[in-house]
Amino acid sequence: MQGLHKLLLLYVLTGLGQNGHGISGGEIVPKSKMQYMVSLQDGHGKHLCGGFLVSENVLITSASCDKRDPKVVYYGYHNLEEKIKPVNIEKKCKSSDSDIMLLKLRKNVKGDNVKPTEIPNSEIDLKVNQQCVVAGWGPEDCEEGPVKELRMVTVSVFNCPHNATNICTSETGFCEIDTGGPLVCDEKAVGVVKKNNSTTFANISTKHVWIKDKINNPSWKDCCYTWHHLKAMEMSFVLLLFAVLTGADGTHIVGGRDAPPHSRPYMASLQIQNQHNCGGALVREDFVLTAAHCQIRGPYTVVLGVDSLSADEPTKQVFSSIRSIPHPRYNGHANDIMLLKLNGSAQLTETVQLVSLKAGRVRPVNSCITVGWGDIGDNNTLPLTLQEVNVTILSQQTCRSRWGMVPITGSMVCGVGAGVFQGFCSGDSGGPLVCDGATAGVVSFSGRRCGDPRTPDVYTRISSFTPWITTVLNNN
Ligand SMILES: *[C@@H]1O[C@H](CO)[C@@H](O)[C@H](O)[C@H]1NC(C)=O
Ligand SMILES: *[C@@H]1O[C@H](CO)[C@@H](O)[C@H](O)[C@H]1NC(C)=O
Ligand SMILES: *[C@@H]1O[C@H](CO)[C@@H](O)[C@H](O)[C@H]1NC(C)=O
Ligand SMILES: *[C@@H]1O[C@H](CO)[C@@H](O)[C@H](O)[C@H]1NC(C)=O
Ligand SMILES: *[C@@H]1O[C@H](CO)[C@@H](O)[C@H](O)[C@H]1NC(C)=O
Ligand SMILES: *[C@@H]1O[C@H](CO)[C@@H](O)[C@H](O)[C@H]1NC(C)=O
Ligand SMILES: *[C@@H]1O[C@H](CO)[C@@H](O)[C@H](O)[C@H]1NC(C)=O
Repeated sequence: MQGLHKLLLLYVLTGLGQNGHGISGGEIVPKSKMQYMVSLQDGHGKHLCGGFLVSENVLITSASCDKRDPKVVYYGYHNLEEKIKPVNIEKKCKSSDSDIMLLKLRKNVKGDNVKPTEIPNSEIDLKVNQQCVVAGWGPEDCEEGPVKELRMVTVSVFNCPHNATNICTSETGFCEIDTGGPLVCDEKAVGVVKKNNSTTFANISTKHVWIKDKINNPSWKDCCYTWHHLKAMEMSFVLLLFAVLTGADGTHIVGGRDAPPHSRPYMASLQIQNQHNCGGALVREDFVLTAAHCQIRGPYTVVLGVDSLSADEPTKQVFSSIRSIPHPRYNGHANDIMLLKLNGSAQLTETVQLVSLKAGRVRPVNSCITVGWGDIGDNNTLPLTLQEVNVTILSQQTCRSRWGMVPITGSMVCGVGAGVFQGFCSGDSGGPLVCDGATAGVVSFSGRRCGDPRTPDVYTRISSFTPWITTVLNNN
């Protein structure tokens, strides 16, 4: 937390700041306090934002944290170095008129160290000069990484006239990684730290009806969506289920079928430590097309030429990505497309082939499939071999009306399966939508339930990005 050194100085002068050697000053939060506090992180242990639990599976953070693309939540401990198992973020819901974002966790979190906070209703009455605290892991110098132990600093409430959407406090300064944390007054979280601007906090009271509705009502379909990359953390669980999998007939991809072995030779599996995370399509010997939300910090291992991810197929070619080029206007929602440069050129064989980019916009008359090694049951069940499912393209108008408040832009294309609960699912992210033999889309996001036609599957529309793809390929 930038600026806490001012308070540190005060603590030292008054003899209260015994822990004043910490880089961020302020006070270390005891383990017994603020047990609702969580750290939002990427899949590699990098702290991105603060947040706080308001139920066993819902937390509040700042909408601006969406851009930082958090994937997992660490909870129950204030020490970022304690190695504990995180929980994945399943859904997000942004308020349309305030900086508040709700995240839903994939499972309920409980334990002695976890205690969701209640949120105030509209009756909350803050007095001018009331002392409140703000908590976070931000360092004194925002260029540095987070501090190890959660810290809190005291601020006093000011008036910001005529604007109930914000709560104002005495001047301090917070780092970007403090964003999303709580402003706590009388043991209640009343505000949310906004990005880069610590003197105003988003006023939770103004959204209390909306928040309570989201906590109590499991359907978030009016404003939320789910991505389908598997997160590295969750894979051990998924792999366990492998043993249970019988490979019986029934549903695949969800609701799909086994692709004939090696019939989709452009398919790439993007892996982290031998574990499948996302799909992709080979568009040049040394370039794979995938989704921007599949971006990870390190390199991917890119596996080509296989049908089964577990069998040791002789046709397999393995590369690593040496550069990832997400679309520069990817914003956590639109322009969800990325190119990965490989460390060498694939040898084109019967089982490793390029896919062409579909010329022109894909339309409802086109015959399309989507392909992937993702979840086949919407229940963390991975398939043994590559799956595919027929996809019917929807008109933009139909898609927009079904998605309601979630913006479906012209550079997105929507599709549904022929039956209910057919479509892509976890682990299919980044894979191609193939229409008449050419790639026309990249798996981007869907609704809460995989294959639910009420929230059609959304793909990034290739034809909107052909010039960008061509430029990147020509320049690299
Ligand atoms: C109150 O603040 C919000 C967010 O900063 C802003 O969008 C809104 O226009 C402001 N309203 C008034 C009346 O100033
Ligand atoms: C926060 O919003 C509530 C509900 O709209 C309002 O009653 C309260 O005065 C606001 N708080 C501040 C400090 O503006
Ligand atoms: C806000 O963030 C921007 C970009 O991260 C930075 O350039 C600017 O200095 C920050 N402002 C404050 C007041 O911290
Ligand atoms: C912080 O927000 C307040 C109120 O919205 C605004 O007046 C001020 O300029 C902002 N400061 C920074 C550094 O963005
Ligand atoms: C590319 O990376 C893969 C996987 O790390 C490695 O096995 C292979 O030797 C590398 N190829 C080249 C040409 O460096
Ligand atoms: C997952 O879902 C599929 C399809 O609904 C079902 O056949 C399978 O038994 C489920 N597996 C588990 C482990 O729940
Ligand atoms: C999928 O589409 C192809 C081509 O349109 C068609 O021949 C096939 O019967 C369809 N399969 C299913 C299971 O609907």
